[in-house]
Amino acid sequence: MKGYFFAFEGIDGSGKTTQINLLASKLTQLKKEVIVVREPGGTALAEAVRQILLDKQFQGMNGWSETFLFCAARADLVQRVILPELDKGTIVLADRYRLSTEIYQGIGRNLPLEKVQEVLDLATHHLKPHLTLILDVPLELSLQRLQSENRVFDRMETSGMEFFQRVAKAFREVNDQDIIHLDGSQSIEKISEEIWSVVKQFLELGENE
Ligand code: ADP
Ligand code: TYD
Repeated sequence: MKGYFFAFEGIDGSGKTTQINLLASKLTQLKKEVIVVREPGGTALAEAVRQILLDKQFQGMNGWSETFLFCAARADLVQRVILPELDKGTIVLADRYRLSTEIYQGIGRNLPLEKVQEVLDLATHHLKPHLTLILDVPLELSLQRLQSENRVFDRMETSGMEFFQRVAKAFREVNDQDIIHLDGSQSIEKISEEIWSVVKQFLELGENE
């Protein structure tokens, strides 16, 4: 595998999409090959599964059905897009990846984490990101941001406060050697600078870049 794989994680409204777009344009300016994928989605099959997952007609979906659907979408994305791009040497930026399933389904839906991880390993051929960057924001702030966008809440976003508190706490507390926590309540520019310094160091880009 020649490329690099960075996953961005955090609760809804934590600023992932904003930061990924900024990072992608910085890397593109340096003539790096970059692709952005958002989950669930990124292939025809995964986009179709996304429609089911976010559709409020399926309120109260069984936790395992939800897990398998997220994993079905991810299996297609990994096989058709992420692995071939990494083989070509592309930098892949993912708006969510396996940590979302561990936290939203494992912890949020109260499923046994080791079993969820087994399903994830099968679906992804054990493909892990080089780095996972988590944007930590208080739940209240993310809700304020989403409300100010005036958007219609999807099925996942109508899972209730208790669910989201559990999810937010899990994102804040998760720790691993390839996980980096960033304070997502800072300004967009400040967070972007912090991400750039992490990524630059990781990719061993020169000081002038
Ligand atoms: P996510 O992809 O994690 O759901 P977005 O990047 O779509 O988050 O951001 C959600 C909303 O919050 C958008 O309206 C965005 O402009 C705004 N936003 C993102 N980052 C910040 C920030 N650091 N400070 C204030 N508002 C932000
Ligand atoms: P999306 O609109 O992409 O949210 P965001 O912009 O915050 O990323 O919707 C994806 C929703 O699905 C979001 O609520 C998180 C949830 N999700 C899971 O529960 N498990 C997963 O494995 C993934 C990828 C997402």
